[in-house]
Amino acid sequence: MIETIATKPFDGQRPGTSGLRKKVTVFQQPHYAENFIQSIFNSLESFVGKTLVIGGDGRFYNKEVVQIALRMAAANGFGKVIVGQNGLLSTPAASHLIRKNQAFGGIILSASHNPGGPDGDFGIKYNASNGGPAPEKLTEAMFAHTQTIASYKTLRHADVNLDKIGHHTLGSMQVEVVDPVTDYAALMQTLFDFDLIRARIKSGLTMKFDGMSAITGPYGKHILEDTLGFAQGTVINGTPLPDFGGHHPDPNLVHAKELCDSVLSGNGPDFGAASDGDGDRNLIVGKGIYVTPSDSLAIIAANMHLAPGYKAGIAGIARSMPTSGAADRVAAKMGLKCYETPTGWKFFGNLLDANKATVCGEESFGTGSNHVREKDGLWAVLMWLNILAARKQSVADIVHAHWAEYGRNYYTRHDYEEVDLAAATNLMNGLRNQLPSLVGQHSIEKADDFAYDDPIDGSRTTGQGIRLLMANGARVIYRLSGTGTAGATLRVYIEKYESDPSKHNQETQSALANLITLSRSVAQIEKLTGRAQPTVIT
Ligand code: G1P
Ligand code: ZN
Repeated sequence: MIETIATKPFDGQRPGTSGLRKKVTVFQQPHYAENFIQSIFNSLESFVGKTLVIGGDGRFYNKEVVQIALRMAAANGFGKVIVGQNGLLSTPAASHLIRKNQAFGGIILSASHNPGGPDGDFGIKYNASNGGPAPEKLTEAMFAHTQTIASYKTLRHADVNLDKIGHHTLGSMQVEVVDPVTDYAALMQTLFDFDLIRARIKSGLTMKFDGMSAITGPYGKHILEDTLGFAQGTVINGTPLPDFGGHHPDPNLVHAKELCDSVLSGNGPDFGAASDGDGDRNLIVGKGIYVTPSDSLAIIAANMHLAPGYKAGIAGIARSMPTSGAADRVAAKMGLKCYETPTGWKFFGNLLDANKATVCGEESFGTGSNHVREKDGLWAVLMWLNILAARKQSVADIVHAHWAEYGRNYYTRHDYEEVDLAAATNLMNGLRNQLPSLVGQHSIEKADDFAYDDPIDGSRTTGQGIRLLMANGARVIYRLSGTGTAGATLRVYIEKYESDPSKHNQETQSALANLITLSRSVAQIEKLTGRAQPTVIT
């Protein structure tokens, strides 16, 4: 029986960089998740009888919201929902299922790399029929609906059993429960040379993959151990847990420390990788070398023709504005365009759909291609394995050869987390006001607030980060995070280009020391936020 439940708007249901993210306790308020889901449906047109994909990263509260979303999809008139077994789907696997089944769209339950558990974070986002995150026009429409919502539709019905693969009905809607891994793994086999990778593993290549107790454990075990033949135990922290074992499922040098320490020391395996809560991020390390996500994008772009799915070459490259300029140099050499977009994967969708770009990346451990419309952690890992197998070189050799050919973009990101919101806003406003007077000082050639004109749909997005651009590609960029759930997070991105190979072996923080000092003084970070040091350096 369809029920119409009266409700009142909640403040603050505006989707951020990647959907609506709040504390679990916020989502647990009566009607909170329902209001947002109904506002998603209210922003969509002509979906009656169509298919919706639903799944999440398995974090605390995933189970409950999957059932809420199923009942509401049925009450709102969807014809069918495809849902991952136990309500699980990695973000890239969800994107693939939407595309493969020509679904109308999908609801992904995830707060990505944010901590989970009863006191952690939860999130809901909507992906459109191309498999990609809803564009801003749509997220703004959702937000508008959240401010005026007066009722939502649901079904009075028991929970659907999601334990087993199979078919159910929910009112007049069909529900198909699918294995979360199968279709995704099949897609990977069409893109990469699994035989070549297998041969390299047989000849001794070793790796560790850290699933961070999040969604990618089962994907990693199936693909890396069972299909490619890496030793059992190659995947560590491979069982998804609702609280991610109490850790941040964020694959970086801080949160994947154990893996990084063992590979970087040179005593561990040849290759190390990790993915995040919902499986869209990746970390790449080799014996003795950490590959920055910006370098990884550039190296992948330069080598991806070695993978069968890309042997015809690539149409172009896209990177988010704060991502280093390393990929631009690869694009220039290949005679291709490198698009510079605002932060957030949603800005790549149009470029991928229009075949202007084949590969995209963000400095925040995100890399992906036109195979789906999300960044894809395991895709990046398999791409690296394919490149390692084809070039028969180590990660370090490949990175050093890349720098020798293109030069090195020294790069770091300094995060000041949970800063007072008013102080952070004040700091950004202060920088904005200083912009005209900064040009000419400290070798700053241009200073602006980044705006993006989408070349496909002509939309303009403003206020995407303060940029201080200096001679020879050096940059300092400031922006506030759009994914945090407590206070504000100030991100400062610092970069410098070095063409001389004799200067390619410096420690990153020392190579960037002058710019780091400048980044703090120009923005008066300590004075305005009380923070002398960042909380996280990547
Ligand atoms: C962060 C990253 C951004 C990424 C997003 C979702 O957003 O910086 O590149 O797309 O997470 O994974 P932010 O918190 O900076 O808004
Ligand atoms: Zn993620």
